[in-house]
Amino acid sequence: MANQFEYKNFTDDKNYIKLSAEVMAVRARGDRPLACIRTYGCQQNVADSEKIKGMLSRMGFDFTDTAEDADFILFNTCAVREHAEDRVFGNVGALKNIKRRHPSVVIGLCGCMMEQKHVTERLYKSFPFVSLVFGTHSLHKFPELFYNAVTFGGRVYETGVDDKTVYEGIPTRRDGTFKGWLPIMYGCNNFCTYCIVPYTRGRERSRKFEDVVNEARSMIEQGYKEITLLGQNVNSYGKNLEEKHTFAELLSEIDKIDGDYILRFMTSHPKDCSRELIDTIANSRHISTHLHLPFQSGSDRVLKAMNRSYTREKYLDIISYAKEKIPGLSLTSDIIVGFPGETYEEFLETISLIKEVEFTSLFTFIYSPREGTPAAKMDDPISAAEKSKWFSELLKTQEEIAAKRCASMVGQTVRVLVEGKTDKDGILTSRTSGNIIVDFPGSDTLVGQFANVRITQARNWILKGALA
Ligand code: 5AD
Ligand code: SF4
Repeated sequence: MANQFEYKNFTDDKNYIKLSAEVMAVRARGDRPLACIRTYGCQQNVADSEKIKGMLSRMGFDFTDTAEDADFILFNTCAVREHAEDRVFGNVGALKNIKRRHPSVVIGLCGCMMEQKHVTERLYKSFPFVSLVFGTHSLHKFPELFYNAVTFGGRVYETGVDDKTVYEGIPTRRDGTFKGWLPIMYGCNNFCTYCIVPYTRGRERSRKFEDVVNEARSMIEQGYKEITLLGQNVNSYGKNLEEKHTFAELLSEIDKIDGDYILRFMTSHPKDCSRELIDTIANSRHISTHLHLPFQSGSDRVLKAMNRSYTREKYLDIISYAKEKIPGLSLTSDIIVGFPGETYEEFLETISLIKEVEFTSLFTFIYSPREGTPAAKMDDPISAAEKSKWFSELLKTQEEIAAKRCASMVGQTVRVLVEGKTDKDGILTSRTSGNIIVDFPGSDTLVGQFANVRITQARNWILKGALA
């Protein structure tokens, strides 16, 4: 079967990068143009922002966290829950004053929210000072769109799903020097009934096997100590490729690359989480002993209504296989509380599942209706106040589980990657292979290095230790 998608290399054959650099050299308020890029939502957005920063760097930009100082302000937005959307609208509103003080500033919005028509209509009507809007499918066109926005004076809106092409070679400026994101696929085909992502990011398409492996190799050569492979559903990697490859094959190919590094991935979908994948993790040299496997709900009826394509039993089956094969495995998950029609009894099935699995930590969300998804049309009789109560019950249960799990690690010596300093003098923060935070006293020179730490104390879900 031929590839269902076209693979193209990023080009800037019309020199929009150079042209933008020339315009911005004159227009900037300081010696060099400054950009303030604010990223909301998931790691995929973080990875997209790193590409935008890569292109901006080539236009001569430096970066600032202070919007007031910037010549270009861009919000990379998230549409997954209403709360994230509200924050973006609020924060864009606040930019109006900055635009008044500095009329030359260019204000832009991109990301998942821009792929929703009701959002772009509202922006167009209510926020005339936003001059650049583009969706998740237009990253490769950013230099042209930016150039048009700064030279033509009008508003540039470029949205709409083009999910037929994978662009390689877009310049990237990674935020971290030792931890890096590596997208392996884009989009999602699952259409979970609550989720907006398939509409904002389009159909699933995998990057070519060699392109991903080569990028991983180059990151390892550059000294990256932690690489996280990214996709909405990494377990279905390779399904649309001409040359068939599974995600497990991709992991083991990268794992063969020599070096001192840890390999992570997210997000996995239980329906595609194979025993082959678990075996690959168990037999690997570099893959973390952490599995983030979102189950969303412990009730089979709710899972069906969510269109998740697995049952509680199948989920627990793969978990028990994984626990058996990977000693010290750390499990995390995403959970939605208050899906339309969920009853308290069904919610209790979620509680019983987390007690059974004993997750290290959880990402928990109250259901948020998303316009255009099937669930948004379902009857939702449970009040927000009631859902909040369930939510608190879930948090309390998980706190007890996490505390117990962490306490059981006291006395162990674990290998960690040191991530940085804490705000306490001389105390570093680090993460285990299982993605558990460990704080310990040590010198700044350890940041970005692996270290062995003996766990001395557990505080809820954070561990404290001392260099071994
Ligand atoms: N409401 C609440 N949570 C949601 N998620 C996705 N869509 C919604 C929604 N409409 C959660 C899921 C997913 C995580 C990234 O966000 O748990 O796994
Ligand atoms: Fe959304 Fe489901 Fe796809 Fe995850 S797998 S991005 S929850 S549709």
